[in-house]
Amino acid sequence: TGGQDLAGRHVVVSAGGTREPLDPVRFLGNRSSGKQGYALARSAAARGARVTLVSANAALPEPAGVDVVPVGTAVQLREAVLKAAADADAVVMAAAVADFRPAAYAAGKIKKKDGEDPAPVALVRNPDILAELAADRPRPGQVVVGFAAETDDVLANGRAKLARKGCDLLVVNEVGERKTFGSERNEAVVLGSDGSETPVPYGPKDDLADTVWDLVAPRLAGPPLD
Ligand code: C5P
Repeated sequence: TGGQDLAGRHVVVSAGGTREPLDPVRFLGNRSSGKQGYALARSAAARGARVTLVSANAALPEPAGVDVVPVGTAVQLREAVLKAAADADAVVMAAAVADFRPAAYAAGKIKKKDGEDPAPVALVRNPDILAELAADRPRPGQVVVGFAAETDDVLANGRAKLARKGCDLLVVNEVGERKTFGSERNEAVVLGSDGSETPVPYGPKDDLADTVWDLVAPRLAGPPLD
């Protein structure tokens, strides 16, 4: 699909899952493999875009011709995405960003003590990078895309999330056995802020990536600037 419809564009993709450290050996993490984000980066590069891939803890080969920025935590991911977004035509937030992080980081490994109950882990909220970008776009006309993994009421929850986040497109995945996390395949509905609804049948993550760019390309404002 698409040909070179992203030629001259700069796009930013976040991929993988953040890890929020508790101490030097432990973290709070999630099951995101990074495969969907890497597929988005490959697809955009093949369509002519300059691609910045902000990659959180993905154990995947670097796609050719893509500028990879490795990050660990949500705070680091935010910094890298905002920096790259400054001159970007589109930002696609495929990364699974931890909503919370431990309130404190223990410089030494946390020990268990005989006969004592474990101490509760206090959490604080992480910044919502997608909502922040969508509300305060570093470049006018920038297209902002989010992802959502839902287990039930997929469409209703997706619509509510799209409105809450303020993004242009939201890719809603149903979390299931052979779909989404760690899988090579995905099934999704892409919701648009214009009310559009694009179902993407169960298939390779590359196909979903192509569909996302098919929907982003016509929303890009004006001719490429760089
Ligand atoms: O709210 P929820 O985590 O379901 O939203 C998922 C979408 O929001 C994804 O696109 C994810 O990258 C983004 N997100 C974010 N910052 C957070 C949490 C999620 O940008 N702190």
